[in-house]
Amino acid sequence: MLGFIPWLFGHSVTEFQFKALVVLFLQTICVSSSSNEGLLRGFSAVPDSSVTSFQAFLSDHTGNFSLGFLRVDRTQLALAVLHVPSSQPFWLANPTRLARWSDSTRLSFNGSLVISDPHEGVLWSTGTTGDSVLLLNTSNLQVQSDGDPPSVLWQSFDFPTDSLVENQNFTSSMSLVSSNGLYSLRLGDDFMGLYANFLHSDSDSEQVIYWKHKALEVKAQIVEGGGPLYALVNTDGYLGMYQYQTSSKPMDVQKFDSFQRSNISFLMVRIEPDGNLNGYYWDGSKWALNYQAIAETCELLSPCGSYGLCKPGGSGSGCSCLDNRTSYQSGTGCFDERQQGYGDFCGQAVAENNYWVLRRKGVEAPDKEFLSYETLSSVEQCESLCEKNCSCWGALYNNANGFCYSVDYPIQTMSGTGDESKVGFFKVRNSPPGKKKRSIGVVVGVVVGSVVLIAIIGIGLAIAGYLRWKTKGAIRQDGISLSPGPYKNLGSSSFSYAESK
Ligand SMILES: *[C@@H]1O[C@H](CO)[C@@H](O)[C@H](O)[C@H]1NC(C)=O
Ligand SMILES: *[C@@H]1O[C@H](CO)[C@@H](O)[C@H](O)[C@H]1NC(C)=O
Ligand SMILES: *[C@@H]1O[C@H](CO)[C@@H](O)[C@H](O)[C@H]1NC(C)=O
Ligand SMILES: *[C@@H]1O[C@H](CO)[C@@H](O)[C@H](O)[C@H]1NC(C)=O
Ligand SMILES: *[C@@H]1O[C@H](CO)[C@@H](O)[C@H](O)[C@H]1NC(C)=O
Ligand SMILES: *[C@@H]1O[C@H](CO)[C@@H](O)[C@H](O)[C@H]1NC(C)=O
Repeated sequence: MLGFIPWLFGHSVTEFQFKALVVLFLQTICVSSSSNEGLLRGFSAVPDSSVTSFQAFLSDHTGNFSLGFLRVDRTQLALAVLHVPSSQPFWLANPTRLARWSDSTRLSFNGSLVISDPHEGVLWSTGTTGDSVLLLNTSNLQVQSDGDPPSVLWQSFDFPTDSLVENQNFTSSMSLVSSNGLYSLRLGDDFMGLYANFLHSDSDSEQVIYWKHKALEVKAQIVEGGGPLYALVNTDGYLGMYQYQTSSKPMDVQKFDSFQRSNISFLMVRIEPDGNLNGYYWDGSKWALNYQAIAETCELLSPCGSYGLCKPGGSGSGCSCLDNRTSYQSGTGCFDERQQGYGDFCGQAVAENNYWVLRRKGVEAPDKEFLSYETLSSVEQCESLCEKNCSCWGALYNNANGFCYSVDYPIQTMSGTGDESKVGFFKVRNSPPGKKKRSIGVVVGVVVGSVVLIAIIGIGLAIAGYLRWKTKGAIRQDGISLSPGPYKNLGSSSFSYAESK
């Protein structure tokens, strides 16, 4: 109950700060001069030490989009295409290899757009021999060569970051990765899926699917040999899946709330730090939520962090811990994330003693349809199966039908069901495995996740964003990511969660 007080307080402060900070931020952008003529060979730019957030040098002709240096975590730099009115980055050149915000870092165009630094050499390059760099009114950045018509040698649309704007082709060789590096969207032969990334070791990771949408083939059949699927956000208000040979008609349509509404100006989808895939439209002042792949918070993989318990709807809803002796703290999960975060129990000296067992009734896995299971006649058999298998982190048994599901990745959040016949068995690590102490995604997470630190704005606006969500009666989201990046905070600032009808 007392928990509400800071929220209420946060509200009044934030609404005020929100406007002030937005004005401040937009001024910063406008101060930097930028052209919309395109960059020619010989262009070069270095970061300006007085710029605190974004240094623009190229705009599209509408002024809606800008290419420039985005300051990340105060000291780092990403080359970004920003949606100017919301200061939302749509694309980053080098999310996993940020440059330093220092006057030795240089962006140049010599036919290739190149980010370099005298210490590290070339950090990123388009590897082209072009004549100009243009930013289109779709937010697509292109390197073109002269000619009639000019040819496109490289485009940012082919290297999406975490977002897809309308009419941007998403193919099976691409992936969208959430800003904290934990989740990704990819296409399969006849479906699109959301995957979580779990590190096995410092170099090896495992991708686990937790949401799958199969092409329904309502409007067109998938043609054998017709090439792989691709997806795009159609301006009619849906996320469509297409096949190259028959590209005019979608195989599948996931409708947005604005489906076939004509007054919608600009659509995008983004994979969020909580692992959801959200669609938005630009309503002229903010991004309004238009679509969610996963509608219920408790159906996300980790809304309450590791070893969390998510209770949907009504009274008592929200986050707690699977271990009823541990109190839930948002952002850190229920046990030390670093200790629990990755790998398995195999190949360790004293296998029996390196974990203890936690049991909880009335829980089930949100992704159980993707877990392997066997039918067994007792919960003891189910537990013993997991206990004997060093790659098993936990097992969930359903006394009603005898299904025994096993979880072979670090335990995330379980969803609470009122049903006491569903029981969970979970291994909890006693001590970190060897010296390797990295939680899932921290490697990528730290790098990508901190992609958009705009320090002051981030904090103020994050509270505003959370508050909107909070008032919608949803569960607080800040326990979701293991390395909650400021990117997410910035994101929630200009993204509203439209009231559901
Ligand atoms: C452009 O500069 C990069 C980095 O210095 C270099 O590797 C590349 O060969 C140059 N390209 C051309 C066409 O000169
Ligand atoms: C964007 O550019 C295309 C062609 O370059 C043009 O047809 C279209 O009207 C432009 N849209 C906006 C909103 O300016
Ligand atoms: C998207 O794919 C379609 C079908 O192959 C193609 O015609 C179109 O030019 C592509 N658009 C972009 C922006 O690459
Ligand atoms: C682009 O700019 C126009 C004119 O200022 C505005 O009406 C429109 O909403 C903008 N679109 C986006 C996506 O920002
Ligand atoms: C916590 O869980 C244990 C074991 O399931 C149970 O015996 C105990 O009553 C629970 N305590 C509370 C406060 O719910
Ligand atoms: C242990 O669990 C993994 C993952 O669930 C499974 O692939 C493997 O076959 C199991 N091993 C044994 C010996 O049952």
